[in-house]
Amino acid sequence: MIFSNPPDILKFYIDSYVKSGDICVDATAGNGHDTKILLDAVGSAGTVYGFDIQNKALENTRALINNAKNARLILDSHENIEKYITDKIRCAVFNLGYLPGGDHSVSTHAASSVSAIKKCVGLLDETGFVAVTIYHGGDTGYEEKDAVLEYLASIDCRKYGVTAFYFHNRPNDPPIFTVIEKR
Ligand SMILES: C[S@@+](CC[C@H](N)C(=O)[O-])C[C@H]1O[C@@H](n2cnc3c(N)ncnc32)[C@H](O)[C@@H]1O
Repeated sequence: MIFSNPPDILKFYIDSYVKSGDICVDATAGNGHDTKILLDAVGSAGTVYGFDIQNKALENTRALINNAKNARLILDSHENIEKYITDKIRCAVFNLGYLPGGDHSVSTHAASSVSAIKKCVGLLDETGFVAVTIYHGGDTGYEEKDAVLEYLASIDCRKYGVTAFYFHNRPNDPPIFTVIEKR
């Protein structure tokens, strides 16, 4: 099987872990594609929380998911996740960078991303994962990629598996898909 892009790999993990009725988090809702995939996976009995700091992103997400009742869209930084979620979650999905088609100057940042990823790891149920797709280079730079990869390397390997997928023979700083799985 050839994974052509990060969403292909994400779909593999969602299919492996997420069941009807689960609680999942889209930490960077953007245009809503991941929120929609998660909603399909959890079904009407589950809940998907979607975070974004831009109204425009949440509007786009709301339109894509047809205002689904079991989506909670939150206009706040994922760094503040504990204000909204105290239940255990099956997964959290981060897509770092800026809103496609939006303002490139509004994007995720190293310190808040690492803090939010840590919090999501702490919220994981007995089985579950946190997926982080890292976009880097260009307008985004390398600081966030370096900080996230440094944090991922520091996670206790006895408690969590951490895997990184590199599209190794692609030019121009291809995205890196990473996943933290609870053992
Ligand atoms: C690459 S886009 C996400 C794309 C999205 N997954 C999709 O399917 O369209 C990154 C998004 O993260 C949002 N963002 C930036 N900083 C954030 C933060 N601290 N908390 C939550 N969202 C943030 C941006 O506004 C942007 O919409």
